[in-house]
Amino acid sequence: MPPSRMAGNGRETVLATVIDGKQVAASVIDTVKAATAALDKQSGVQAGLAVIIVGDDPASHAYVGSKSKMAKECGFKSVQHTLPVETTQEDLAALVASLNADDTIHGILVQLPLPKHLNSEPIIQSILPEKDVDGLHVVNAGKLAVGDLETGLVSCTPAGAMVFVRRTHGEDLSGLNAVVVGRSNLFGKPMAQLLLNANATVTIAHSRTKDLPSVCRSADILVAAVGRPEMVKADWVKRGATVIDVGINRIAAPEKGEGKTRLVGDVAFAEAAEVADVITPVPGGVGPMTIAMLMANTVIAAHRAAGQTPPKF
Ligand code: GUN
Repeated sequence: MPPSRMAGNGRETVLATVIDGKQVAASVIDTVKAATAALDKQSGVQAGLAVIIVGDDPASHAYVGSKSKMAKECGFKSVQHTLPVETTQEDLAALVASLNADDTIHGILVQLPLPKHLNSEPIIQSILPEKDVDGLHVVNAGKLAVGDLETGLVSCTPAGAMVFVRRTHGEDLSGLNAVVVGRSNLFGKPMAQLLLNANATVTIAHSRTKDLPSVCRSADILVAAVGRPEMVKADWVKRGATVIDVGINRIAAPEKGEGKTRLVGDVAFAEAAEVADVITPVPGGVGPMTIAMLMANTVIAAHRAAGQTPPKF
């Protein structure tokens, strides 16, 4: 049961349960650590993750730094390749080829975006699908589309959002309506396919959808990934729904001082929390799950390479 409390106007307002993404991510990381140690003990295989970053974008370096650090904490062999901005397409392709051929590396991640002179698509598609821990290879997209979750790898953010859905509703979503707002290859499409695979009745809505609020109101599980700050209002949310907010938008926050900013999601959190049963915050919701699922994909890939049954998340 969600906690309830009295609103300022004296009426009782039921507030949703707020999912703690950091806590769920920490539990995923605990499973990864245990599975990494068990694999090493049983097969003598240490899971290995290689992260490639090209250029000197500070935000990308911060992301990659936390990925490499978390990989070490999980007990992985963690390799970071930091390449100069003038790296050529051929140099980058050669590095991916050498990591494809390296048996001690089970996961390869090329941090995006790449500098403008590099073409990311052929690089991503040159990663061996079984080492594509970002789940961006067309083979992995295709396996998800046909419901093959046993041999494919699922991209990290939808995989993380799905952990929240499973912990709220269980494995079987039969009879539940799910609406995913957003149709990107990176998130909306794989998220919809994961929900469908779990037997939800799935609608993919987007900027061209007619009467988006009423489509959203039909959702027992509403997933927002539109990239528009606080677009999903309380009256878009069905009472009792589970709301997963995948947006990360930086907006001006003059209340914090001149020139200050803050992060908000695609959902108007405070008002939606009065209608939903379960909701994710921004920050601290889906965000922390992305790195955790990268670690999960790496330990899954290492188990498969060693012929062992991987853990489930
Ligand atoms: N840049 C920002 N997020 C990601 C991600 O999840 N994967 C890759 N490869 N690059 C990113």
